[in-house]
Amino acid sequence: MVRPAELGDVPWIRKLWADWLQEAPLPFGDEDEVAVGQDHLLRAVITGETPGLALVVPEDAVLLWAGPPPNLHGFGVFVAAGARRRGLGTLLTAEACRLAKAAGYRRVIVAPYVNNVLSIAWLRGDGFAPLQTVLVKEL
Ligand SMILES: CC(C)(COP(=O)(O)OP(=O)(O)OC[C@H]1O[C@@H](n2cnc3c(N)ncnc32)[C@H](O)[C@@H]1OP(=O)(O)O)[C@@H](O)C(=O)NCCC(=O)NCCS
Repeated sequence: MVRPAELGDVPWIRKLWADWLQEAPLPFGDEDEVAVGQDHLLRAVITGETPGLALVVPEDAVLLWAGPPPNLHGFGVFVAAGARRRGLGTLLTAEACRLAKAAGYRRVIVAPYVNNVLSIAWLRGDGFAPLQTVLVKEL
């Protein structure tokens, strides 16, 4: 059910992300730039240009984590609205953690927006603990 993402998955993943940005607009309103950046990173991880993990449950869920060992940075776990609460997010993170450990990573660092209360609760339930505070200054 879970497998590495392939270039052929990019169109439905892009749609899943676009749906998510509609559901939860970003605090900075820079959805277009973020979409381009995520797309670029997804392709780079799939092709091996950038180290990381891109895993999917086809058409329903995607996980994108990237960076060289020892720290893997989470760029998101997204489950399609109609497929949530079926354990897919948990399944993806469990498989990603297993693969990451085997590849020499020692930790996963994620930085959800503070207003994404559900995601933070879900991550904490999955064993993530707060360690850093990210401060932002608008320019
Ligand atoms: C957060 C997200 C990835 C969770 O994925 P999921 O597949 O729906 O979650 P799971 O089925 O694995 O849920 C595991 C547990 O998390 C908790 N949880 C998940 N969604 C919840 C919700 N809407 N309300 C309350 N608890 C929730 C529950 O404890 C759940 O266990 P249970 O169903 O046995 O009660 C998914 O809701 C999602 O894609 N959200 C939008 C994108 C996002 O915020 N991504 C994360 C940050 S980048």
